[in-house]
Amino acid sequence: MGGGQTLLVGLRNGRPHFDYWGAALPAGARETLDARLLERAIPHGMLDGGERLDLLPESGHGFMATPALKVSRAHGGFVTQMAVQAAHVADDACQIRLADAAAGVEVLCEIRLDPATGVASFQLELRNAGLDALRVDWASPVAFPSLGDEILAFGGRWAREFAGRRLRLPSGLWASEARTGRTSHHSPPFLVIGEPGFGEHHGQVLAVHLAWSGDHRLFAERLRDGRIQVQAGELFWPGEVVLAPGEAYRSPIVYAAKSDVGLNGLSARLHAFVRGTVLGGRLTGRPRPVHFNTWEAVYFRHDEDELKRLAEAAASVGAERFVLDDGWFKGRDDDTTSLGDWTPDPGKYPQGLGPLVAHVRGLGLEFGLWVEPEMANACSDLLHNHPDWILGEPGRDQPLGRGQYVLDLTRPEVSAAIFSALDRLLREHPIAYLKWDMNRDLTHPVSGGFAASRNQVLAVYALMDRVRAAHPGVEIESCASGGGRADYEVLKRTDRIWTSDCNDPLERQSIQQAFSIFFPPEVMGAHVGPADSHTTARRASIELRTLTALFGHMGIEADVRRFAPAELEVLRTAIALHKRFRPLLHGGRLVRQTPPDPGAVSFAVLGEGEALASLAQLATPETAAAAPLRLKGLDHEMIYTVRLLNPPGRPEAAMKHAPALVRGEAIRAAGRLIAELGLPAPILRAGEIAVYHLEAKRG
Ligand code: DGJ
Repeated sequence: MGGGQTLLVGLRNGRPHFDYWGAALPAGARETLDARLLERAIPHGMLDGGERLDLLPESGHGFMATPALKVSRAHGGFVTQMAVQAAHVADDACQIRLADAAAGVEVLCEIRLDPATGVASFQLELRNAGLDALRVDWASPVAFPSLGDEILAFGGRWAREFAGRRLRLPSGLWASEARTGRTSHHSPPFLVIGEPGFGEHHGQVLAVHLAWSGDHRLFAERLRDGRIQVQAGELFWPGEVVLAPGEAYRSPIVYAAKSDVGLNGLSARLHAFVRGTVLGGRLTGRPRPVHFNTWEAVYFRHDEDELKRLAEAAASVGAERFVLDDGWFKGRDDDTTSLGDWTPDPGKYPQGLGPLVAHVRGLGLEFGLWVEPEMANACSDLLHNHPDWILGEPGRDQPLGRGQYVLDLTRPEVSAAIFSALDRLLREHPIAYLKWDMNRDLTHPVSGGFAASRNQVLAVYALMDRVRAAHPGVEIESCASGGGRADYEVLKRTDRIWTSDCNDPLERQSIQQAFSIFFPPEVMGAHVGPADSHTTARRASIELRTLTALFGHMGIEADVRRFAPAELEVLRTAIALHKRFRPLLHGGRLVRQTPPDPGAVSFAVLGEGEALASLAQLATPETAAAAPLRLKGLDHEMIYTVRLLNPPGRPEAAMKHAPALVRGEAIRAAGRLIAELGLPAPILRAGEIAVYHLEAKRG
């Protein structure tokens, strides 16, 4: 039992079976869940026993779709028929031991239902109990039965992460795979499946996430008899996991949540779970400092004096942390060189980083530093001295990304050297924050002649853990060319995810909308970029840029010295608003809204007694007048005082008549009325945004 839900795993014919997951069962219901209720008719033309969709379905038991385990031995044996040996059940967790003595395979299956949120986790350990090597080709710690066949998958690309795609599962199998050594831009390990037509506020849905920062596969498959299974696991390279006798493979954790009230129901559970369990509460109640990041302001053009002026300008508008991005280290004038040489460039920083760090801190800002620890350029002292420290096959060329190689962190001496470089920087300077970037797909993940993609991911985690243990006060941001490494396992050891390299707010609204299904706003890096977006070449107003970034972990990433005074004022005001509402924004309940116009994006963050809601118009509206904003998630018993925080300066430009609320007057309305009748909305043209503040009093 957890989060008002019950998860029941039964033992049926010696096999673990997903009996029930849903709303807490009323007294007496559980007793009626017997074999006869779960019985299914077996059609002609199929195996006599039918297909058994167990928690871990196996071909050896007559499961004719994709099994949860695929193992084999050199002599050809691959059949497994695992049977439960023991089960240990606690209130919110259970461990099931399965074994097949003839196949020499043992599995420990661990299931947990988080008591606070109802988020379930599944992990398995597979042990080779045989006398010779056991090759593992696939191991999903669970096969979920799905009642619905509509999938919300997340595709995308660099600078357009988390692009939601809807599809109905046809016959057969639909899979999302990434073999890039990171969660990827195009196929991150997240999936929602549910009843057709599910939406933000309605429908039965299941969210599945593989918490793993490397190669992965998630799939949904329709069985011949119509049932649907969903699995998730690591995608192995050939021969990557071969277990010696006695050795075990431990899978990443699959996290899942279920909701009967659509996607917002999932987010309510997942956000609380991330806050409490994934982050372990470490960000709770800690104001997230507003960033200034140098990347889109200066790129590789680092000039110490100019950076000091930038820091001053950033401080004057309210930034609290200055992050020195790429370009600071020896010889790094573009992206073809120097990764691996983590010492300040003597030309740009003749006295090292010390004077800049001191200046930044003197302004009252924390200092953060960009690093890309897993990589090295061919043109670097590191690879000059240790050409064999990279992943790959010796003597074989590999396609490069940004001219860089991936360091073989599975080798202790390589990991130790990189740790020393980071450790030295962190000891020498009061650095509060590392932006940990990773900008290259793994094309040849080979170490010592064997596939090492998964060991590399584990080695990256170990390196992060070591840095954190040595410098517990230092926060880390997970970045991979934007949002290419975003998952719950990396988030256990990091404090922020760089959501996307796209700072264009028109794109960002959609990216943040989808990202927010799985991640709470306080870990979502969101920056105010230049007026002309560097990734889309579109121009956006300072209002849209600031009020889009306001709803995440806010930052600035532009040369603010070039902002016009009026723009600076809007920026300053927005940062002040962000700080004022930070406890709400980073601790409240985010509810995505569904305005009727397809070109509008809206969400609200609801907290104790107050709420903020935004309505952004991304495309020209379909209708002449905007529909009122019918806000979901408010307390219907409360009376709210509502204000538009950014009433339009010239309402007459778009409206013959602007409602009082739109003109800046405060109005009072009951939560139920706001939900039913909606709040008067301004007529927004493409690229405009309205932000409402609601303050509650019990009616
Ligand atoms: C990719 C990141 O996503 C950017 O924010 C920036 O840090 C660059 N790398 C620097 O090379």
